[in-house]
Amino acid sequence: MKRIFSGIQPTGSVTLGNYLGAMKQFIDLQHEFDCFFCIVDQHAITVSQDRLELRKNVRSLAALYLAIGLDPDKNTIFIQSEVPAHAQAGWIMQCNAYIGELERMTQFKDKSAGKEGVSSGLLTYPPLMAADILLYGTDVVPVGDDQKQHIELTRDLAERFNKKYNDLFTIPEISLPKVGARIMSLQEPEKKMSKSDPNKKATIALLDEPKQIEKKIKSAVTDSEGIVKYDKENKPGVSNLLSIYSIFSNKSVQEIEEMYEGKGYGDFKAGLAEVVLGEIKPIQERYYELLESKELDDILDRGAEKANADANKMLRKMYNSIGLGRKR
Ligand code: TYM
Repeated sequence: MKRIFSGIQPTGSVTLGNYLGAMKQFIDLQHEFDCFFCIVDQHAITVSQDRLELRKNVRSLAALYLAIGLDPDKNTIFIQSEVPAHAQAGWIMQCNAYIGELERMTQFKDKSAGKEGVSSGLLTYPPLMAADILLYGTDVVPVGDDQKQHIELTRDLAERFNKKYNDLFTIPEISLPKVGARIMSLQEPEKKMSKSDPNKKATIALLDEPKQIEKKIKSAVTDSEGIVKYDKENKPGVSNLLSIYSIFSNKSVQEIEEMYEGKGYGDFKAGLAEVVLGEIKPIQERYYELLESKELDDILDRGAEKANADANKMLRKMYNSIGLGRKR
């Protein structure tokens, strides 16, 4: 059975971008594949984190994985730092990555631009991500568009390792959603919707109060034309909302355009809020139940056990390929 691996950082609130770009793919893929879904807390500490907040966010993301409908009996759900092989393999991948190629990563450039005291972890983050993926013999990595460059680097690093040592790693493919690979900010639709956006109106969090979600949709930037039509170049705001509408309603963009022909943005946004909340409200209800349950710890314990077993096997093979330690 094909292997799937993906991860999400437990940093602040999970956004509609995370949900539509990545998590919805997880929900679909779990039925056909052997899936590993990771809470990548070691990636999160590449920027400063509050200790208590980080712990809270890890637990919150675990509950959210389950609340969106990931079946813990079918999937391996675990916390990255509870599987030491990730950091160990990450070191090996770092030793096979060039500084130049890491400096070219757009996410590194964006996150470090104009900042002082940038951690070296922010630069070496992609080799850790490569380790996450390669440790499990992953065939497919479901992510949003912003991770494309990191997956390409993972493929390069895997090929480099295979050539230099021996053919150990599967070369993973990227899986992007057809619609929703890049959900844009509600306030500046030329920019990606991002957890770290200081303007809270720009981002919908999966755990925002329903009233807040409605408000944010109402105040989303559109244009003065008043026509519900997809045109990414000239109508980025409306086009972004149309993409979101399309995914939540399972209707094509064209069908939605027809539904709102002759109607204004007010009706369109009200309809959008309705489909978004129709899906998100039950997720929120399940989330709050799960957060309190003991079940969550059991699931994460089982996940860590399974992930450790698999990852340690691959790590051992990596050590043997390179000549680290004694032969075992
Ligand atoms: P992270 O935590 O930033 O985002 C998690 C997932 O959400 C997707 N995403 C989006 N998709 C569409 N539109 C958006 N506006 C949007 N914003 C975020 C991301 O593409 C991602 O799929 N480096 C990764 C975490 C990671 C990982 C891995 C992923 C670590 N190791 C191994 C896959 C495999 C990250 O920071 O994602």
